[in-house]
Amino acid sequence: MTTIPVSLGARSYDVVIEAGLLSRAADWLAPLSRGRKMAIVTDSNVLPHLETLQKSLSDAGVASEAIILNPGESTKSWSQLEALTDRLLDLGIERGDHVVALGGGVIGDLVGFACAILKRGCGFVQIPTTLLAQVDSSVGGKTAINSRAGKNLIGAFHQPALVLIDPQVLDTLPLRQVRAGYAEVVKYGLIDDPEFFDWCEANAAALLAGDPDARVYAIAHSVAAKARIVAADERETTGVRALLNLGHTFGHALEAEAGFSDRLLHGEGVAAGMALAFGYSAAHGLAPTADSDRLRTHLRKIGLPDGVSATGLTASADTLVDHMLHDKKMDAGTLPFLLARGIGKTFLDTSVDLADVRAFLAA
Ligand SMILES: NC(=O)c1ccc[n+]([C@@H]2O[C@H](COP(=O)([O-])OP(=O)(O)OC[C@H]3O[C@@H](n4cnc5c(N)ncnc54)[C@H](O)[C@@H]3O)[C@@H](O)[C@H]2O)c1
Ligand SMILES: [Zn+2]
Repeated sequence: MTTIPVSLGARSYDVVIEAGLLSRAADWLAPLSRGRKMAIVTDSNVLPHLETLQKSLSDAGVASEAIILNPGESTKSWSQLEALTDRLLDLGIERGDHVVALGGGVIGDLVGFACAILKRGCGFVQIPTTLLAQVDSSVGGKTAINSRAGKNLIGAFHQPALVLIDPQVLDTLPLRQVRAGYAEVVKYGLIDDPEFFDWCEANAAALLAGDPDARVYAIAHSVAAKARIVAADERETTGVRALLNLGHTFGHALEAEAGFSDRLLHGEGVAAGMALAFGYSAAHGLAPTADSDRLRTHLRKIGLPDGVSATGLTASADTLVDHMLHDKKMDAGTLPFLLARGIGKTFLDTSVDLADVRAFLAA
C-alpha cells in the first residue's frame, strides 16, 4: 500500500493507492460514516465497481445509497448540479458527512462542487476510476461544472478528505481512455522530472497493457508530483500550479475545435498540445530540437497525437488562435504559455505573442 500525503495545513489529506483496495474501502470509509448512511455518486459505466464498494460497506455494517448519473461531460451542468444537491439534501446530508465520488473526472468535479456548496461545504471522498482522474483530477481540490460560455467556468476550490485509488478498476476502462489519461502521466516527466520521462519511455507499453506494478508506480509518482505542486500553490496564484497546464493552451484550442466532443478526448488534446509546446520552444531556440523529436516519437509510439494533423482535425492556424483568445486563462490581454528549455524543464512565459503562435502553427 502506498500513502501519499497532500500537505495543506488544516485541509491536508491522504491519497491511498493499492490494487484491490476498493473491496476493502470500508476500512477507510466506516470511520468517516459516523454510523450514518453514506451517499455514493457514480455514473452508469461504473456499476461493477459500485457493487464492489457497496459490498465492502455493507459487510462492515455501513448503509449506503447510490446516486447513478448519466456518463459524459454534459453531466457537469447546472441542471445536474441542482438535481444532485436536491437529492443529497433529501438524503439529509449534514456538513460533517462525507459524500463519495466514485467515477472519472466528470463525477469528481461535479460531486466536489456540489459538496463545496452544500450547507456551505460538506465533506467528500474521491474514489477515481479513470487513469486521468487517478493521476490528476481527484487530487488538488479543483471542482467545477461547465456553463454556456465554456468548460469549468463555474467552480470552487474544495479539497477532498481522502482519495482512495484502486488501479484494478482500470481493467474495465476502454484503452482509448487509458491512453488519454496517460498523457497527464507523461506530463509530470516533461514538467520537471526527466528521469520519470525515461521511465515512461521504458514502461508506457506495460502500463497501457495493465501491468500492475507499472500502474502503481505511474499513479503514485504522478500523485506525488501533483501533491508537491498543489502544496506549493494551492490556488494557482504563484505560477507553480500553472506548470500543470503544460500542453493545455494548445490542447484547449484543439478541444474547442472538436467542440469538446468525443472526437478529441481531453488527454488527446493535451498530448498534441505538449508536442506543440515543445515544437514551439524548439522553433524559438529555447529547447533542443532533439527533445521535441523525442517527445513526438514517444507519443506516436503509444498512439497519442503528436501535433495538429495527428488529431484528425483540419483546423487552420487562424481558427486555433481564435480559440485561444477565448481561453479562460486569458489575463488582461495576455495568454500565459507553458514552454520548455528541454524535457523536464518547463517554465511559464506570459509574454508569448499570439502572432508568433499563429506563424508557428501555420508553418
Ligand atoms: N479537477 C481537476 O483538477 C481536473 C483535472 C483534469 C480534468 N478534469 C476534468 O475531468 C473530466 C475528464 O475526466 P475523465 O477523463 O475521467 O472523464 P469521465 O469522467 O467522462 O470518464 C471517461 C469515461 O469513462 C467512463 N468510466 C469511468 N470509469 C470507468 C471504469 N473504471 N470502467 C469503464 N468506464 C469508466 C465514464 O463513464 C466516461 O464514459 C473533464 O470534465 C475535465 O474538465 C478536472
Ligand atoms: Zn488536463
